[in-house]
Parts: sequence; structure tokens; C-alpha cells
Amino acid sequence: MIELHGKVALVTGGSRGIGRELIASLSRAGADVAFCYRSDSGAAATACAEILEQTRRTVLAVQADITVEADRKRLVAETRERFGTVDILVNNAGSTEDGLAVRMTDAWESVLELDLTAPFRLCQLVLPLMMKRTTGRIINIGSIASRVGLAGQANYTAAKAGLEGLTRSLAQEYGRRGITVNTVSPGFLETELTANADEFVRRYVTEHSSTGRFVTPEAIASAVLFLASDDAWAITGQTIHVDGGLVKL
Ligand SMILES: NC(=O)c1ccc[n+]([C@@H]2O[C@H](COP(=O)([O-])OP(=O)(O)OC[C@H]3O[C@@H](n4cnc5c(N)ncnc54)[C@H](OP(=O)(O)O)[C@@H]3O)[C@@H](O)[C@H]2O)c1
Repeated sequence: MIELHGKVALVTGGSRGIGRELIASLSRAGADVAFCYRSDSGAAATACAEILEQTRRTVLAVQADITVEADRKRLVAETRERFGTVDILVNNAGSTEDGLAVRMTDAWESVLELDLTAPFRLCQLVLPLMMKRTTGRIINIGSIASRVGLAGQANYTAAKAGLEGLTRSLAQEYGRRGITVNTVSPGFLETELTANADEFVRRYVTEHSSTGRFVTPEAIASAVLFLASDDAWAITGQTIHVDGGLVKL
């Protein structure tokens, strides 16, 4: 059982999918949890109510588009106002806008902005808080796309590969300040993000992963919780694949 009482966790994109399980798991482990969502306030309110019922703990939901600088600053400010600081940052929010590279226009910038630049800017906002306390955990949610290089996803693949590079660099820069930085890289999960994935992808995952199964949000949350814990102090700069054995390098 991971113990996170006294820690403050901030999760981006906590209203559904993987993030929804992350906020519930972090809250069950005793952390004070804040999360943001972009637009679906109904889903965010439902998540808060369900967690309150399950854990008797209040989580803070903040509407914030993390690609907007003012929203990022407000998200961190509201988290500090409610809980005092940020000990654990989970850069989870991300999206895809697929297309062939030769025809890709704005989708290049928008995916890099959400999946790579916004996580970096959020790290910049929380690192000073973590340095002051000489402790901190940053966990970036990557994707196996960074290793397998999916066709039609040049933007997403590049952003997630960049996130792994960012992870390694920040780990070097802040390790002596008691801050660890890691990437958790999921395989294929059934969420709204993958709702339109075609049958070929689903069949490929079950045929080629060692476990023959899709990954679950709970499996991702288990890895994130461990990396967020004090026991994981010696693990930094790493990419942990939680993909049922899909990537074999
Ligand atoms: N699902 C998979 O198979 C899979 C595989 C590998 C990696 N991943 C990664 O795992 C992470 C979560 O994926 P998921 O499948 O759980 O996604 P999802 O179901 O689409 O959920 C995305 C969450 O992010 C929020 N969000 C999106 N854009 C945002 C923005 N600009 N500002 C703030 N919040 C924003 C959404 O809020 P609203 O609903 O309000 O828009 C929602 O809460 C992503 O980084 C993704 O790349 C997923």
C-alpha cells in the first residue's frame, strides 16, 4: 500500500480516462489532489463527487487549458491556495491529431503545444516550489508511440519522444535537490482518446503484446503511485513502459 499522506498532487487532465483513475488512486493513498480539465465540467464534477464518496476526501477541480500560459499559472496558484504547495506533478493531459506528415499543417504545432510544451511550462512553475522543500516528484505520461513510431502520428510521436528527453534532462538538473523526474509510458488503453482506433490496432495489440491484453488505467496508476512515493527516491530519468509487453527493446 503506497502512503502519500501530507503530499499534494497536481494532475493534468483528471476528469476522464487515465487521469480519472490517477486522481482517485492518489486520493486513496492519502494525497491532497488537484486536477485540471479543459472543458467537460460535468465529468470533472462527477469525478469529484465519486472520489468524495469513496475516500471522504475532497479533490480540487480547476478548469484550465494547459496550452494557455495564464491558465497554467492560475492552475498552480489555485492548487497552492487550497493545499499550500505542489509535491507531485503528473503531466497526464495529452491528445492526438493524426494525419499524414506531408499534409500536416497546424496539427503539428497544436499537438506539440499540448503534449510537450505545456508539460515543460508546468515543470517550470512547480520546480521552484519543490526545490524550496528539497523534495518533489514529476511524472510525465508518455506513450509507446515514442518507441514504435506510429504512422500518421509524426506530431504525437515526436512530442512523446521529446517528453522522454525532457524527463532525462530535468532528472539530471534537479536530482541533487531531492526531485525525481520519470516518464510512465502506457500501451493501448480503451479511453475516449482511442475510441476511434481501428480494428487493426486492437488486433495488433492483443497479438503482439506479451500479455495479450489491453492495459488498464489501474495498471498505469500503480506505476505512477510507486514513482510518487518516497520509496522511489532512487529512480529518476527513466521511462517505465506499462504496456503489457508490447515494446520489446
Ligand atoms: N489511451 C491510450 O491508449 C494511451 C496510450 C498511450 C499514452 N496515452 C497518454 O495518456 C494520457 C491520457 O490519455 P487518455 O487516454 O486518458 O486521454 P483522454 O481520455 O482523452 O482524457 C484527456 C484528459 O485531458 C484533458 N485535456 C485535454 N486537453 C487539455 C488541455 N488543453 N488542457 C487541460 N486538460 C486537457 C481532458 O479534459 P476535457 O475532457 O475537459 O477536454 C481529459 O480530462 C495522454 O497523455 C495520452 O497521450 C494514452
